[in-house]
Amino acid sequence: MPNVVLVGAQWGDEGKGKLIDVLTAQADVIARFQGGNNAGHTVKIGGDKFILHLIPSGILHKGKVCIIGNGVVVDPQALLKEIDELAAKGVSVDRNLFISEACHIIFPYHRKLDLLKEAKMGALRIGTTGRGIGPAYMDKFSRSGIRLVDLLDRNVFKRKLEAALAEKNQIIEKIYGEKPISHAEIFEPYCGYADRIRKFSANTSVILNEALSQNKNILFEGAQGTLLDIDFGTYPFVTSSNPTAGGACTGTGVGPTHIDRVIGVAKAYTTRVGEGPFPTEFDEKLAARVREEGGEYGATTGRPRRCGWFDAVMLKHSIDVNGIDSIAITKLDVMDILPKIKVCTGYKHNGTVYKTFPLNIDVLSASEPVYEEFDGWLSSTKEIKRYDDLPANAKRYLARLEGLMGVKIKMISVGADRGETLSLESIF
Ligand code: IMP
Repeated sequence: MPNVVLVGAQWGDEGKGKLIDVLTAQADVIARFQGGNNAGHTVKIGGDKFILHLIPSGILHKGKVCIIGNGVVVDPQALLKEIDELAAKGVSVDRNLFISEACHIIFPYHRKLDLLKEAKMGALRIGTTGRGIGPAYMDKFSRSGIRLVDLLDRNVFKRKLEAALAEKNQIIEKIYGEKPISHAEIFEPYCGYADRIRKFSANTSVILNEALSQNKNILFEGAQGTLLDIDFGTYPFVTSSNPTAGGACTGTGVGPTHIDRVIGVAKAYTTRVGEGPFPTEFDEKLAARVREEGGEYGATTGRPRRCGWFDAVMLKHSIDVNGIDSIAITKLDVMDILPKIKVCTGYKHNGTVYKTFPLNIDVLSASEPVYEEFDGWLSSTKEIKRYDDLPANAKRYLARLEGLMGVKIKMISVGADRGETLSLESIF
């Protein structure tokens, strides 16, 4: 297998966890490169359901090396909880999980500031997951963050935490009128987390580059999705990292010359959690039906997801900014219940039809989608194992999506289980 980056081509929750799980069988190393425990990757294996937030889903395969790259922000408490939950289900991470010592750490003041800011913004809130992701990346980019390597040294950690709290408590007290957070509240518990995490910490760029020199292959596991990208998403209604393919390099320390393929994952329709524009959003009645059929509730926060039609303009944007060379379509089976299906092929704004995705969210919000309409297939696709056996209308729909995107659909998923995947041709 070549070295592959797998990205979400919509607003996250495209079913990447399942695809990663399927592809992991062929990979040697699986690496996360951005985001944190805002992600929630659901993998179903037989009767077991795993929800992974920080640890690459590759951990569910024996003998694979799993990396949490430097671009990820790590909440140690959440990480240890995940490790313990995996252990309780018989999955050990002891020998194959490595965490970059350059990862920035999420602290309670990040979570608190995330929630306080959202509450203060009222109607203008982003609808974050409240996991402290934005504030942790703010510290990273303002060069005042605390990295794993700092956390592992009691003296350095003590000093850096004092400096961080001196600033954060001013903000917490003076801007938000809330109680400050004490040094003691964080220091000892976090030293305890550090003791448990120490054995996983490493210079993961070295591990990855050594693997490459031994001709091993890497699967880069994107979290969130392209439209949540800080640069290419619906800013400011985005996350604070680069879920796009370029992030795989900066977030792991592997150079672009080593990336061979980029796979984009898209649902057969669209969903979004949190606030922000969503041109193809269903009315509430249809949204409620599709949400129930597709189990569209956040894997991390349990929030109901907003649902809408497939947006080919958005997909074209994703394909461009990621360099996507093959597409996996997920949750086709959810559309089994729909008599009519629409696809957005353009945006109408002030009399002009746009075929490219506007980065100005005011234009996006005010745009009317231009739709093509298809007949549904109204029969179950769940048990289908071969593309040829799909209903004719489903094939027609997929062929049109492919035509609009200009990139081949190489995998289709018709259910949450590993086995419910149709491979049209090898991704590689
Ligand atoms: P944050 O990443 O918690 O700061 O949230 C920013 C935006 O990204 C919000 O709209 C969240 O709902 C969204 N978001 C963050 N992580 C995910 C994810 O894994 N799936 C879908 N949406 C996400």
